[in-house]
Amino acid sequence: MPVTIKSAREIELMRAAGKILAKVHQDLGKALKPGMTTLEIDQIGEEMIRSYGCIPSFKNYQGYPASVCVSVNNEVVHGIPSERRRIQEGDIVSLDIGVIYKGYHSDAARTHGVGEISENAARLIKRTRESFFAGLRFATAGCYLHQMSKAIGDYAEKAGYGVVRDLVGHGIGSHLHEEPEVPNFRKLTRGIRLRPGMTLAVEPMINEGTSNVEWMDDNWTVVTQDGKLSAHYENTILITKSRPEILSITEDEIAGGIWVPEGSL
Ligand code: CO
Repeated sequence: MPVTIKSAREIELMRAAGKILAKVHQDLGKALKPGMTTLEIDQIGEEMIRSYGCIPSFKNYQGYPASVCVSVNNEVVHGIPSERRRIQEGDIVSLDIGVIYKGYHSDAARTHGVGEISENAARLIKRTRESFFAGLRFATAGCYLHQMSKAIGDYAEKAGYGVVRDLVGHGIGSHLHEEPEVPNFRKLTRGIRLRPGMTLAVEPMINEGTSNVEWMDDNWTVVTQDGKLSAHYENTILITKSRPEILSITEDEIAGGIWVPEGSL
């Protein structure tokens, strides 16, 4: 399937989906407490999603059993919620959530600290988020996709981190995963030229140590090979003629500051 340009109507639906998803992330992030099980997190998240009349995109997607991917510490993405896994003070917890509103998907991820976390963990979360915004400088019509990829990867590597290469972002719309693939690292090709109306899920997955990852025996959970921490930050964005519209973010988060100053590393 080729890369699609969304119509005005489709964009309106994706805006609505993104707004709901942003709110779910904000509320679920605030609900995280030491001692909760990752299954409780999933159940609260699913209830929130359904309360807005949305369907969780991930539930039963290629057999994935939950609505919220909950990945703790060395887990990179796709952690499966479990009643046996409790989050504790000092953990970092990545929540990846997708919602479907009137047939249109929005996909976003945030990494949260539970209670007080180490300085290293806090820095990893902050730099991962910043790498997304470093990439967004190139998320404008006329730019080539892999300019954004390179900017994300260079930012994270300059910060001293490993950039996951085995998983990438993606186009999004009436399907969770559409073309193109959106890598978070430099490529030898320049990729497609971005055009207004393209919608992308941009999702850097950044490791404290090695960029290498492994799959656990559940065939879902991706973990760092060296057991060090990993963080994830993702939004669904709309390409325009100027700055991209970030569809899955709250006004509060934007007001808190998003653009990373050039040369800030
Ligand atoms: Co995604």
